[in-house]
Amino acid sequence: MIFLKSPWEIEKMRRSNAIVAEILEALREAIKPGITTLELNELSEELCLKKKVRPAFKGYMGYPFSLCVSINEVVVHGLPSQRRLKEGDIVSLDFGVICDGYYGDAAITVPVGRVSKMAKKLISVTEEALYKAIEQARPKRHLSDISFAIQRHAEAHGFSVIRQFVGHGIGRSLHEDPQVPNFGPPGRGVRLKPGMVIAIEPMVAEGTYEVEILEDGWTAVTKDRKLAAHFEHTVAITEDGPQILSRV
Ligand code: MF3
Ligand code: CO
Repeated sequence: MIFLKSPWEIEKMRRSNAIVAEILEALREAIKPGITTLELNELSEELCLKKKVRPAFKGYMGYPFSLCVSINEVVVHGLPSQRRLKEGDIVSLDFGVICDGYYGDAAITVPVGRVSKMAKKLISVTEEALYKAIEQARPKRHLSDISFAIQRHAEAHGFSVIRQFVGHGIGRSLHEDPQVPNFGPPGRGVRLKPGMVIAIEPMVAEGTYEVEILEDGWTAVTKDRKLAAHFEHTVAITEDGPQILSRV
């Protein structure tokens, strides 16, 4: 069941999502060769304390950290560790909080120092796919118009779209209906309505879309170990069109 949010609830979600965006920006600034992914996780927790919000992922389905840090071939759910970032890596940061009962969720992919042309292109195509998808998040469009926009943009640039993970409704829970796939034909699924709030999160791969989960039970990597990128925004559908909530 899809829970529609009142304007008052959307204001609450704007607050949680703005904090997520602010923390992601601070993490982006902290990214440099030599920093460990655990240090990034610690920074995210310090910032939560400062903002008086709770990290959303910690303990969710037993997830042991507050931040997901996915380097290079890691698609999503990379676990913070003693591993140090190095020049040329691309790193996706996925982060969420709960504030006053409502969730915020967003992700960015960031280059570490100078990166390859391919890495740069993958990052920009994935982010563009997110914005093309957001453009479809308006009343009367079908849910899969969002999915189609992502797939079309990624594939037009020779990349593939990860199928095993999806975007989602969000509100008083981190994951609500509907699921928002990143691929598929247009014109399918529910019609979008004012009051729906969804997290749109394209994951795009340089090579195959097939993924494998590592021994730790979390880390999702591309089967061919080529690069993947991930961007996510929480978006409210309003009469006037999409409103990106995960923005400072
Ligand atoms: N942004 C991811 C999602 O929406 C974060 C979930 S990671 C988990 O599914 F650790 F919390 F599971
Ligand atoms: Co999400």
